[in-house]
Amino acid sequence: MSTHIGAAPGQIAPHVLMPGDPYRARWIAETFLEDPVQYNDVRGMLGYTGTYAGVRVSAQGSGMGQPSLAIYAHELFAEYDVETIVRVGTCGGLSDAVKVRDVVLGVAASTDSAMNVPRFGHVSFAPAADFTLARIAAEVAEERLVDLVAGGLFSSDQFYNPDPDIARTLAGYGVLGVEMEAAALYTLAAQHSRRALALCTVSDHLLTGEETSAQERQETFEDMIVVALESIVR
Ligand code: HPA
Repeated sequence: MSTHIGAAPGQIAPHVLMPGDPYRARWIAETFLEDPVQYNDVRGMLGYTGTYAGVRVSAQGSGMGQPSLAIYAHELFAEYDVETIVRVGTCGGLSDAVKVRDVVLGVAASTDSAMNVPRFGHVSFAPAADFTLARIAAEVAEERLVDLVAGGLFSSDQFYNPDPDIARTLAGYGVLGVEMEAAALYTLAAQHSRRALALCTVSDHLLTGEETSAQERQETFEDMIVVALESIVR
């Protein structure tokens, strides 16, 4: 096992779906994977491995925020040889280019986090998605009539941001949605030469004040999981 994941070598698949909420990992495993086996419950951060269309896939919770995600993504890449992590989460809409229930494909992730300062010093690294995986996900979404919009995410350390203007500033630069994890995932994938992608359904909209009902969130989330899984196996 690694420090935070209680799996034996080989128990985690090369391709991992990573929701923030560990109960979502369980739901993904029970709803979409055949023969799911739970491999982790350390700190309640549930992880499962099963198969989708005959391909081994894992679902591993990340917790909220970049420090938490970074612990799990690091251990998956460094200790379990994971090749692909697709974050499947939610974001707040920042731009009128997206509406609630859309899926945002994060081509790049800006951040207010200081996590990369010790890595790059004064250089502002640009955390970006794996292009091939992103292209495939966009194709799958188009085929399945899922409303997917590709563009920038803002990975913020603050859910309750004391600076309400920052959302507008970033929207002015084409950033589509705010969430809390993608920048760390993309940075770690780059460090380990692996593939990463963040897909986020727009659960609420910071400009329009629109929100989704629990049922709408669930349905959109299901569509997004299918896009993620089909992209992995293609
Ligand atoms: N901020 C950060 N993360 C989020 C939000 C938000 O408004 N909505 C969904 N995830």
